[in-house]
Amino acid sequence: MLAESGKPRLFLALLRKLGYAVASRTSQRVPDRMTHRSCLAIVLAAGEGTRMRSRTAKVQHRIGNRTLIDHVLSTAMAAGGAELAVVIGPDHDAVAAEAKRIAPGVAIFKQTQRLGTAHAVLSARAALAKQPDDILVMFGDTPLIRVETLKQLRAALAAGAAVAVLGFTPADPAGYGRLVTDKTGLVAIREHKDANEAERAIGLCNGGLMALAGSHALAILERIGNDNANREFYLTDAVAIARDMGLSAVAIETSEDDVRGINTKAQLAEAEAVLQKRLRAAAMEAGVTLVAPDTVFLATDTKFGKDVTVEPNVVFGPGVTVEDGAVIRSFSHIEGAHVGNGARVGPFARLRPGAQLGADVHIGNFVEVKAATIEDGAKANHLAYIGDARVGAGANIGAGTITCNYDGFAKHKTDIGAGAFIGTNSSLVAPVTIGAGAYIGSGSVITKNVPADALAIERAQQTVKDGWAKRLREARLLSKKGAADAKKP
Ligand code: UD1
Ligand code: MG
Repeated sequence: MLAESGKPRLFLALLRKLGYAVASRTSQRVPDRMTHRSCLAIVLAAGEGTRMRSRTAKVQHRIGNRTLIDHVLSTAMAAGGAELAVVIGPDHDAVAAEAKRIAPGVAIFKQTQRLGTAHAVLSARAALAKQPDDILVMFGDTPLIRVETLKQLRAALAAGAAVAVLGFTPADPAGYGRLVTDKTGLVAIREHKDANEAERAIGLCNGGLMALAGSHALAILERIGNDNANREFYLTDAVAIARDMGLSAVAIETSEDDVRGINTKAQLAEAEAVLQKRLRAAAMEAGVTLVAPDTVFLATDTKFGKDVTVEPNVVFGPGVTVEDGAVIRSFSHIEGAHVGNGARVGPFARLRPGAQLGADVHIGNFVEVKAATIEDGAKANHLAYIGDARVGAGANIGAGTITCNYDGFAKHKTDIGAGAFIGTNSSLVAPVTIGAGAYIGSGSVITKNVPADALAIERAQQTVKDGWAKRLREARLLSKKGAADAKKP
């Protein structure tokens, strides 16, 4: 198996580099002074997400087949966030359930009134009061933040800052908080609505996410008021307050993608595009040949071996491993599947969860495989459904073969032995066993077990009547002529 032989390591390492939370060895790369620091990540997710125009809470929407909150929590954990807190709105029980699914130990806090980002952070007071060394404040709607960026924020705290913020330079800064600096460094963040002309001219904006030193966080947050245009308690005021307390605040500049927030379905699609770009780049960096990268959709956990080729227009859902030398041909859709060494899939193949293809297996056009093990060298090249089955090594599944796995109540298994030959258009009515080396005549409906090396054939005897068609044609012609003659005057 791949995981044991370590083949996908390179790809996983690249994903990690890009900030994906794959089981991590991050502690090896964290500077020494950070390994011993405790870290709490608070994820703000109380927003209503009205502009998504959806009954689903904003952070429950998905990119890369995972919810936004999943991305944020997984990245927080990979950056060392051992303690996690999520701040949700009053009607967000589904968000709490999703957060618990990802991180069972997460603490959930409800913000009943949405009075601003600082107020939201203070809703998690019980978690803050434990005074972890580092506090990361993250936004549930900002899922593309990378592990490395969070580590930079933590490193700034380890170096003595009380507040570390993320700056970025968007093409259009309107609407964002501006980072106000002087010769002593970062002095304040001014929200767009409260900024004067000179401050609005500043290009460096607040990415929103921030790190606070646990020893000062409560003291800083409690001093934040709501004397501003929105009458909200702004987390961004933490900077000016920290400076006022004689503490230091720093800004770390990052890319716009890192802090890209999602408020609309259009922005959700933009974030998906950024994520896919990162995943494709990581796959190619690890040696996967993507013939037309922009047309291939990957999941964050897609694992590739060496020398894999993926043709245009292929979709990978979650839980897919593709081993060395496999070729995935165009228009295939693959999820929850394992593709063995040198296997060929597609074009137009569908591998559903539980499809386990051995080495050198061929799954061709319009073949669907579900919950089935296809052993080494077996082939199903055209138009077939193989569900709840085992197909033994080297077996050949003819075009149009269907495993009839469902009787309307339960699913049943089909077992096809090694080297068996299933003639075209056969229906194998499960539960049924076809012995090794057996032969099934084309068009058979097989309802009884077939012993090894036997022939099973289930169809009516063919009848041939010499000259029958010719006689029919002649008879028809004669009667047509008779009718025409009768019409004549
Ligand atoms: C925030 C920053 C702004 C920055 C921008 C980057 C503040 C005051 N402003 O503004 O400087 O440029 O992000 O995108 O922080 N939330 C709650 N409860 C609340 C309010 C907000 O949970 O009472 C959550 C939201 O769900 C969201 C996050 O906090 O996930 C940020 O809130 P949002 O209203 O989007 O802040 P911005 O106006 O974007
Ligand atoms: Mg926002």
